[in-house]
Amino acid sequence: EKGTYPHYMLKEIDEQPIVIRNIINQYQDKNDQIKLDDDIRKAMKKTDRIYIVACGTSYHAGLVGKELIEKVAEVPVEVHIASEFSYNMPMLSEKPLFIFISQSGETADSRAVLVQVKKLGHKALTITNVPGSTLSREADYTMLLHAGPEIAVASTKAYTAQIAVLSILAADTAKAKGIDMSFDLIKELSVVSNAIEALCDQKEEFEAIAREYLSVTRNCFFIGRGMDYHVVQEGALKLKEISYIQAEGFAGGELKHGTIALIEEGTPVIALATQEHVNLSIRGNVKEVAARGAYTCTVSMKSLADEEDRVIIPDVHAYLTPLVSVIPMQLISYYAALHRDCDVDKPRNLAKSVTVE
Ligand code: F6R
Repeated sequence: EKGTYPHYMLKEIDEQPIVIRNIINQYQDKNDQIKLDDDIRKAMKKTDRIYIVACGTSYHAGLVGKELIEKVAEVPVEVHIASEFSYNMPMLSEKPLFIFISQSGETADSRAVLVQVKKLGHKALTITNVPGSTLSREADYTMLLHAGPEIAVASTKAYTAQIAVLSILAADTAKAKGIDMSFDLIKELSVVSNAIEALCDQKEEFEAIAREYLSVTRNCFFIGRGMDYHVVQEGALKLKEISYIQAEGFAGGELKHGTIALIEEGTPVIALATQEHVNLSIRGNVKEVAARGAYTCTVSMKSLADEEDRVIIPDVHAYLTPLVSVIPMQLISYYAALHRDCDVDKPRNLAKSVTVE
């Protein structure tokens, strides 16, 4: 039940700090060590390449998962859109392992790929919120999100839960392979949980930004680099699906290769700056679009913040920023939809679980 909340989406956004804490508890043993199923650990150790397959928001979580698994566990990862993979299977490595990411566990496009790869005799792990779902039953292994039911069509807490679970999978694999991790994941995830909570306490700020930037506009662009590029793609999806504003997320460096032609006087551009090694570059991109009339809103991490930045998110580990930087995207999208009188929890033309290909 949504209780005192006007919409499920807002309730589910607010649940994210608790969901992260739940995940920490679920995947920890008595000695506060990450503990995964032995079979999953073995499969992760054995594979020479991981293929992540998913749709929509789950695909965006997969993009972040690739970075985590490659950086932390040193296993190469490809991320594929399920509906593309099923008609155009890429060349596979010798010992592939498939990871299906699906909140519902019922998405037909993802299931079509699972059926294909099982026929080829490959192993599959499903990361899902729904125990007993089709994708969970048909895969060899399952990791649950423990996020509680997600009712709003726009996915919020499932995205952060998926990334948190992928980070745990990456850390467990690193340990199994004897790779020395430079940080304590469990500790960093609790820092993340507190940071999300702090942002959820600033709703007036996000409502004001939505009003100022998105009340009347027809379009909105999001830019970022590295991890931030993945998150701005999710931000754009969130905004377009519930507010019907045409929105796209772009890699900062690609602007000059075509997209910058779209910038007009007053075009809203939301930039994300949480990555130190690309901080100067993304700030250069913000200046480029501002010089062409864009109405810019920069969301940055505290230790990298400039005076003119509009939203400051608390510092968290560089690999885990998506868990926190997506919160402003979710809340700005929510309020934009609200201000434009859209049906936040049930956007037009969309279903919560897409069971047709
Ligand atoms: C967007 C959204 C969709 C789903 C996609 C996959 O907010 O909810 O893009 O992420 O349909 O659904 P699952 O994760 O259930 O396979």
